[in-house]
Amino acid sequence: MKFNHPLMHNNITQGDLEKVTELFKKKNIILTQSVEVDKFEKKWSEWIGTKYSTFVNSGSSANFITIKILQILNKDLSKNEIITPTLTWVSDVNSVIMNGFKPIFVDINLSNLSMNIDQVLKKINKKTLAVFITHAQGFNGLNDILLEQLKKRGIHLIEDVCESHGAEYKKKKLGTFGLISNFSFYYAHHMTTIEGGMICTNNKKIYEVSKILRSHGMVREAQNKIFEKKIINKYKDLSPKFIFLYPTLNFRNTEIGATIGLNQIKYLNQNNKKRLNNFTFFLENLNSQKYFTDFDVQGSSNYAFPIILNTKNLRVRDKFEKYLIKNNIEFRRGNAGGGNQLRQPYIKDFIKIKNFSKYKNVEKVHFFGYYIGNYPSLSKPKIILILKILNSFDFLG
Ligand SMILES: Cc1ncc(COP(=O)(O)O)c(C=O)c1O
Repeated sequence: MKFNHPLMHNNITQGDLEKVTELFKKKNIILTQSVEVDKFEKKWSEWIGTKYSTFVNSGSSANFITIKILQILNKDLSKNEIITPTLTWVSDVNSVIMNGFKPIFVDINLSNLSMNIDQVLKKINKKTLAVFITHAQGFNGLNDILLEQLKKRGIHLIEDVCESHGAEYKKKKLGTFGLISNFSFYYAHHMTTIEGGMICTNNKKIYEVSKILRSHGMVREAQNKIFEKKIINKYKDLSPKFIFLYPTLNFRNTEIGATIGLNQIKYLNQNNKKRLNNFTFFLENLNSQKYFTDFDVQGSSNYAFPIILNTKNLRVRDKFEKYLIKNNIEFRRGNAGGGNQLRQPYIKDFIKIKNFSKYKNVEKVHFFGYYIGNYPSLSKPKIILILKILNSFDFLG
């Protein structure tokens, strides 16, 4: 069989499909959000270690609702800045902009592809409401200085863990440090619900608002029935089941997604371990002359191998891409989310950046960074073959 290395392989299992078939066989089934969604949220909260979780239809929706919650609960309108990474997914930046905040960008570290914390601390000022960190590609982005300073200055930490399920800082799972955290269950991630995302928090009020925001802003979604009654009494001219509190959309997931999630979570730890072993082996054997290998793997939970070329030559880069294509290795340039967000067309109406040299590391990743697949069924002989291909790439020829 011809060698071929896709970004992801078999992320929906036969076991998942059997669970979905069982669901279909139930009498009077409901497939829109119902009891399986509740069960999955509880299971996820247990797994991650937060009190509450809200299951939504994507990680981007989780991002959007999270920042909408900050907007709704923020009483001090002078606080309108959110510190945001340059290397992240587009929805992190868009959720900031779409909710009326100003994203303040910082560069990344090559060692963990996450925010440069010195720059974060320098950019904090009276207007800073939150730091929206992305734990990119399975790496931990936190350190004690950041946690201490945010606590001391009363600035919210929001964690995007969409690419790092199971990664830890000091043996505690990422997604449990911030006021709110977000996960994605898109097909190619550590686990999948086909499409899907989760919003996690220990704060009851935030949880309440997230449930309402997930479903058209309808008050009937509130878990706190005393609160619901209060609102119904306040708006006597409205139908109690149709009171729309906040401007939002429908971000609900389905019973099918939750059923797959409940099955997938059983294997998540085991799969994360396999992927981490794959990653450690990959890094130990990747040629460090040709590729950047100095990653900080402590606490990491990898799902895709990062590759950063040790060159500044775009011709070598183009040759490398042709080489990967020839060898049937699927790749994405720019690591998480296509590289430097500041270079994307959607941002240009909001921020004018003339000088990208202030963002040296994200620029490196933008032009010379990649990821390729790492999945639980990836065998060692296959990793050896991938390494052989990568290590044989001729930078000079
Ligand atoms: C860091 C990060 N945040 C958010 C998202 C959005 O998740 P989704 O694709 O489920 O909308 C992604 C997507 O992969 C991501 O990598």
